[in-house]
Amino acid sequence: MSWDQVWIDVNVASMNPSVSAPYGAIVDAALAVKDGKIAWVGPRGELPEFDVMSTPLYRGKGGWITPGLIDAHTHLVFAGNRANEFEKRLQGASYEEIARSGGGIISTVKACREASEAELFELGRKRLNALAKEGVTTVEIKSGYGLDTVTELKLLRVARELGKHHHVDVKTTFLGAHAIPPEYKDDIEGYVDLVINEMLPAVIAEDLADAVDVFCENIAFNIEQTERVLTAAKDAGLDIKLHAEQLSNLGGSAMAAKLGAKSVDHIEYLDEDGVVALSKSGTCATLLPGAFYFLRETQMPPIALLRKHKVPMVLASDYNPGSSPLCSSLLMLNMGCTLFRLTPEEALTGMTRNAAKALGVEDKVGVLAAGMQADFCLWDITTPAELAYSYGAGVCLEVVKAGHLVHQ
Ligand code: NIG
Ligand code: FE
Repeated sequence: MSWDQVWIDVNVASMNPSVSAPYGAIVDAALAVKDGKIAWVGPRGELPEFDVMSTPLYRGKGGWITPGLIDAHTHLVFAGNRANEFEKRLQGASYEEIARSGGGIISTVKACREASEAELFELGRKRLNALAKEGVTTVEIKSGYGLDTVTELKLLRVARELGKHHHVDVKTTFLGAHAIPPEYKDDIEGYVDLVINEMLPAVIAEDLADAVDVFCENIAFNIEQTERVLTAAKDAGLDIKLHAEQLSNLGGSAMAAKLGAKSVDHIEYLDEDGVVALSKSGTCATLLPGAFYFLRETQMPPIALLRKHKVPMVLASDYNPGSSPLCSSLLMLNMGCTLFRLTPEEALTGMTRNAAKALGVEDKVGVLAAGMQADFCLWDITTPAELAYSYGAGVCLEVVKAGHLVHQ
C-alpha cells in the first residue's frame, strides 16, 4: 500500500453507523490517509502492509480520533457586541422586550452596516480560529445582520472569504429575513418582497450562499412570509432551513419540513405533530443549548419525541452576539448533555454525522470511513464521553484537515 500518512496507537470513534459499537468505536485502531481522503480505517491488527520506510507514521499516544467537528449553525460574522443588553436582561428585561424596543438584532445590524469588509473579516477570522482550536473543521455562517442588500452581500462575501483563507470549510447561509429593519417596520410585506426580489437574486448572482434561512417567530416573520422566502429559495435550487419554535409554536417547523428543509433550529416549543413532520421529511432538528442557557430559557426542546420519531439531532453553537455569545463547540457538547439530557454519544453525533447531514455534506464528512475526506482530530481523552463530560482542559491535540496536519 502506498499512503501519505498512517496513524497508530489510537482509538477511533468513527461515528460510522455500520460499525456496531457505540460511537462506531474501534479500539486499538489504525487510520491511513491518501490524497486528502481516508484510505483505510480499522483494527490495527488488520492494517494492510505498507511501506514503513516511506510513509509518515503518527502515534496517537493512546488517545481518541474523532471526525472533525462540524458547527452547523453560527452567526459568526458580526460587528460590535451586546454586553449592554446582557446587563439590561440581568435587571429584568426579556430578549423579546429588548427586540421590540429596537435593540437586539437591530443594534448589531447598525454596527454591521458601519463596519468594513476588512474589519468583519478580521473579527470572523478570530472566531473561526477559536472554533478551529477546539477541533472544528466545518462551520456554517449566516448573514442576517445587514437587512439591506449591500450589507447582506457584504456579510456573505466575508463568510465566503473566510472559507477561502482558512482551513475550516465554510458553508454560507443567507438570512436576510432575520428581523424587520427599521426602514420597513410598517411594511413587513414590502421587506419580504425586497428579500425575495432583490437580495436573493443578488446573492445567487454572486454565488454567495449555499442555503437560505428565515427567523419564523412572533417578533420576526410569520408563517406565510416565511413560506414565501423559503419557496423562492427552493425554486432557485438552494437548500433551506429555519429558525423556528424558539419563543412560541407557530408551526414553522412543519411547514419547512414539507418544503424539504435540511434542518429546523432551536425548536424548544415544537410539538409532536411538528416532530412527526420532521421525521417524514428527513429534516434534522438542530438544538442550540447556548441560546437556551444564555436566555435562561426554561422550555426544553422535545428530546424524547425526537428520539421516539428518530429525527436526527444536531448540536450547534448558534454563536452570535445576542442569544449565544459562546464561541465554543466543545461547550455545546457539554451543555447538550447537562441542559438537554442528550447522551454524550448523541451529542457527538450531533456535531459530526448529523451536523454533516444538516449541511448536506454527509457524503464527504462527519464519519470516519474509507473514501471520506480526511478531516479528523486527535484528543487527549481515554473515553469518547470525556469530550462532553469535561470542558476547557485543552484536550484537542491535533487537527487534520483534508489530510493536512493543521498547526494552530
Ligand atoms: O439564533 N433567533 C434569532 N437569531 C439568533 C439571535 C440573533 C441575535 O439575537 O443577535 C439566534 O438565536
Ligand atoms: Fe441562530
